[in-house]
This record gives sequence, C-alpha cells and structure tokens, in this order.
Amino acid sequence: MSIEKEEFQEKLLSWYKSGHRILPWRDDPTAYHVWISEIMLQQTRVEAVKPYYKRFMEVLPTVYDLKDIPDEKLLKLWEGLGYYSRARNLKKAACKIVEAYDGKIPDTYEELISLPGIGDYTAGAILSIAYQKPYPALDGNVFRVLTRVFANPVDILSTKGKREIRELLLSILPTSDNSSFTQALMELGAMVCIPSGEPHCHECPLKHICIAHQNHQELQYPVKSTKKKRKIENRYVFLITCHNRVLLNKRKETGLLANFYEFPNVLVEDKTEVLDNILKPFSLHPVKTKKLTSHKHIFTHIEWHMTGYHIEVEKETDGIWATLEELEHIYPIPNAFIKYKRELENILDKDTK
Ligand code: ADE
Repeated sequence: MSIEKEEFQEKLLSWYKSGHRILPWRDDPTAYHVWISEIMLQQTRVEAVKPYYKRFMEVLPTVYDLKDIPDEKLLKLWEGLGYYSRARNLKKAACKIVEAYDGKIPDTYEELISLPGIGDYTAGAILSIAYQKPYPALDGNVFRVLTRVFANPVDILSTKGKREIRELLLSILPTSDNSSFTQALMELGAMVCIPSGEPHCHECPLKHICIAHQNHQELQYPVKSTKKKRKIENRYVFLITCHNRVLLNKRKETGLLANFYEFPNVLVEDKTEVLDNILKPFSLHPVKTKKLTSHKHIFTHIEWHMTGYHIEVEKETDGIWATLEELEHIYPIPNAFIKYKRELENILDKDTK
C-alpha cells in the first residue's frame, strides 16, 4: 500500500484546523515564542510547561531581556523544570543572537544550529512553526506517528533509523502552511497516537491510510533498541536546621546541577555505615536526628535513591543558613530536592508555631 502525500497532508491539516488545544505559545508563534516553548517542552509535559512559559514571557518578553537576566534569577525562573543546562544555553544563545544577529533570531538552519542548545529538532520547529519553512521537526511524537502510518520498522534510536524517518518526513512536507503541518503532527502524536497504551485510532484522521492500523500492529511501532541501564546512586540528604534556618551548600560551577544550591548530601557506597560516621565531616552537634521519607530522582543517566534525615543543631556552623523565605526567593534548588524542600517547610512551620 502506498500513501499519497497530498492525502496525508489534507487529512492531517483539516483535522488540526477543526480543533486543537489552545496553548499559550500557539497564540503568536514568533521565533522567540517557539524557541522558548520548544526548549521547555523538550523534557517536560505540556501541562507542566504552561505556567512556566507564561511567567517566563512576563519576566523576559524579548531576547534582550533574556540576555541581561542574572544567572541566579534565570535559574529561579526555571526552578522545578529540571534539566537546567537548557536555561543556561538559552541565555548563551540570547547573547549570541544580540551580538551577531542584532537581536533577530536567525531563519536559516545553519545559523540556528550553531546556537547553544539548538539542535536539529528545535531548528526544524523554529523554521517551520515560526518562519513557515519546509523543515522537518522530529520529536518522539512525530517519530511515533510516522513509523506507525508507514509501518516502518527501523530502530528510531539508531542513526540510520533517525535519518530514514527524517527523509520520510521531508518527502511529505507541504509547500505551504508548514507551521500548521508541524504542529498538527505533534498534536496527533500527543492526543491520538499516544505514547503509552492503546492509541485512539477511531479518532484519527489518518486511520484509513495508516498501515500499522490496517494490520492491527500499532503497538509494534516505533521500534526502539533497548537502552543502557541508568547508574544508581544511594544518597543521604540532610535537612540540617538551626531554629528557623536550614544549611545550604552551593554546588560546583561545572557538572551536574552546576551552581545550584542544595541540601547537604553524600553519596553512600555502603548503606550499613553508621550515620554518625557519615556526619563526621560536617562537625555538627545534633540535638535531634530523625529519619525522613525516601525519595527517588531520575536524571538521564543516573538515578538518585535518597534517604533523608532531619538534623537539628543548636549553633550555626560556617556556611549558608537560609530561612524559608530566602529559600523561596533567593536560592535556586534543583528539582531533585523538591520533595525534601516540602518536608522542610513542614518542619520549620511546626518549629515556628
Ligand atoms: N511538544 C513539543 N512541542 C510541542 C508544541 N509546540 N505543542 C505541543 N506539544 C509539543
């Protein structure tokens, strides 16, 4: 069975235009709006992105504002979204856009791809959605839709597979309204040809041409080779409080979660090691020690399995001792510790009542 590209385009576009989600970045798809939203959406769900996107645009409505924002304020705006190198790259790219392109986000693939944090996908999204150019923007949603419709069994995690699906998408791009076409493919992947569980094929505008559907093999696509397992790190996280303050540590300037503030924590190789030994380097004199809930945080290549402890001391040692208010407004805390931040709020609230 061969698929006519005109039929594919027409069915997809009329479905999209007959009703799609109202999303804040769709109101006015300028290159700046598309860029920021696509970066936020790379590792984060649409519902979670919405309030961040709105606040970001209120505080930083232009590329000039982004260029000028102090790093700590930017991390604070991004706090909770995770994958913070995205925010750092946004600022670096904004500096380059102002210096090299007079503040205008470039409209060629080569220029876009040379900016920090902009890869093949984001360049394609900006070129098609904002500039209406016929460029492919392939994210997980689009890979799923295309491998199903064309029943293509390539491994989409392989370079060859990615290239093949990219070429397939190039061959079906329309000659006009590439903005709607790209967004329609993403929308179909997010709402109908969904990532987990049975797709909603009865609602799909492409059901009559989808080869996987005709063969009842939707769930066999996309094919992905098995990924390498993540490394597991056991960590103890310490909420060390003194009256209404908590001890914070500033992370290094490079590496995982660079420049963030965190609750002191240590990698524990041997979980039978006694707590007193682990706490020795902190030179504390605890008046109370209480075990807290365990939490997990998953990064791309590492999982942190965290055990929390509340340690109360009578006297502040060297270091940054922050109140809840300061924690809220000044010190950016990475997502990995957000559940312990909530526990801390309960602890300090109780203590001050
Ligand atoms: N996921 C990635 N990009 C998106 C977009 N522009 N709209 C909705 N979901 C998306």
